Amino acid sequence: MSDNLNLIQVKDVTKKYRLGSNEVEVLHGINLEVKDGEFVSVMGQSGSGKTTLMNIIGMLDRPTDGSILIKGIDITKKSQKELVEFRRRTVGFVFQQFHLIPSLTAYENVELPLVFAGDKDKSVVLSALERVGLAHRMDHKPVELSGGEQQRVAIARAVVMKPKIRILFKLSENLLLSIR
Ligand SMILES: Nc1ncnc2c1ncn2[C@@H]1O[C@H](COP(=O)(O)OP(=O)(O)O)[C@@H](O)[C@H]1O
Ligand SMILES: [Mg+2]
Repeated sequence: MSDNLNLIQVKDVTKKYRLGSNEVEVLHGINLEVKDGEFVSVMGQSGSGKTTLMNIIGMLDRPTDGSILIKGIDITKKSQKELVEFRRRTVGFVFQQFHLIPSLTAYENVELPLVFAGDKDKSVVLSALERVGLAHRMDHKPVELSGGEQQRVAIARAVVMKPKIRILFKLSENLLLSIR
């Protein structure tokens, strides 16, 4: 099958962490392909390397060896600067602890990726908030929202740029639908 049909290709990826003089290999040669529109979950024991792998696929970290192709482009060959720009338009994250900015309202948190990309658009932000059922809470700061509402703001922020790749850490089942 042609490589072009794959959105994500992970080829022989290893990751070693150096702790002083100790080297710990966490990923021992991962191969994985994900097609556009596919939904994949990664399961494994705590400490087995799930977060490490997701951070590498999401371009927050680099592998020690091997390559990652996104839409056929080898991201391991990109400079840090190119990677930031590419990641901004390609990946949305919902982190385990949400990582909302406490001083910003729900609206401003969701708007942030657009601000960084230099294309603010009020209707895009509002429709992302509407999709997760939170338009009526858009002027609230994270502390004024419930845990579930905070998670929905994080989801709206992750999808506002319409990224092809959406990476969710420990998402509760009842919220899976709103990310698609
Ligand atoms: N920055 C780091 N430096 C050294 N070791 C790390 C680092 N990050 C993770 N590890 C180690 O790598 C292993 C995998 O971690 P992680 O990917 O977070 O696992 P999981 O998400 O599956 O619980 C763990 O043993 C952890 O201690
Ligand atoms: Mg983890």
